[in-house]
Amino acid sequence: MLLEVEGLDVKYGRNHAVNQVDLNLEERGIVTILGANGAGKSSVLKAIQGTERAGGKVTFDGTDISDWSAPKRVQAGLVLVPEGRQIFVSLSVHENLQMGAYCRNDDFQRNIESVYERFPNLKERRNMPASVLSGGEQQMLAISRALLARPKLMMLDEPSLGLSPILVKQLFKMIRELNDDGLTILLVEQNTFMALQTADRGYVMELGNVAISGEAKSLQENPKLEEAYLGQG
Ligand SMILES: Nc1ncnc2c1ncn2[C@@H]1O[C@H](COP(=O)(O)OP(=O)(O)OP(=O)(O)O)[C@@H](O)[C@H]1O
Ligand SMILES: [Mg+2]
Repeated sequence: MLLEVEGLDVKYGRNHAVNQVDLNLEERGIVTILGANGAGKSSVLKAIQGTERAGGKVTFDGTDISDWSAPKRVQAGLVLVPEGRQIFVSLSVHENLQMGAYCRNDDFQRNIESVYERFPNLKERRNMPASVLSGGEQQMLAISRALLARPKLMMLDEPSLGLSPILVKQLFKMIRELNDDGLTILLVEQNTFMALQTADRGYVMELGNVAISGEAKSLQENPKLEEAYLGQG
């Protein structure tokens, strides 16, 4: 297992947002976390990244990292692309990418070229402020920036939010390509249909708990899930 989460617990004051969540992710896998608004999905990702204080145990690549700071986790290869993209709109595309590589002193130039190769749109707009990018391009920028940290595990929090159906398709294709290249992915999604088509396994959260988990295929056919989410897509 690349990631093992045991008894993860997040509290905001009296609000018990994540309640004893267990979760596993094998190397080179794609696992999705689904669930309604407020179920605790983002809190799980933030707790794994170390930006939200949490109880429980997080083991990454065989090492207990529960006490590690978020920057140390990034350096170990655990990278979150947060909800809402969080790019720096007043900085140029290129400067945004440089922020992603700050913790890496290996060959930035070569790495950034490989990002530009993957995303020619970003290369063309490298000197423009990130604010001029379309929603889809901003999402690509956020993902590219995360890739420059050379992650072993990339966590994506609702990457398809606000994208047109065509861009959603492109995004999921890209997620599969990154996975084919060896990247392990933990994906929080509202787009249950696409997420289950892309992932190997899934967890469905309800009010801070894991309500259902299993193979993506079996979740697709789970009447409980269909009733709750798939029908709305
Ligand atoms: N910083 C915070 N302070 C207080 N409460 C918070 C904080 N962040 C989240 N919460 C609460 O914790 C619960 C879980 O929130 P979380 O953002 O993890 O849910 P989510 O599943 O990601 O929802 P969404 O699908 O809307 O993004 C919610 O009730 C939310 O209001
Ligand atoms: Mg969220």
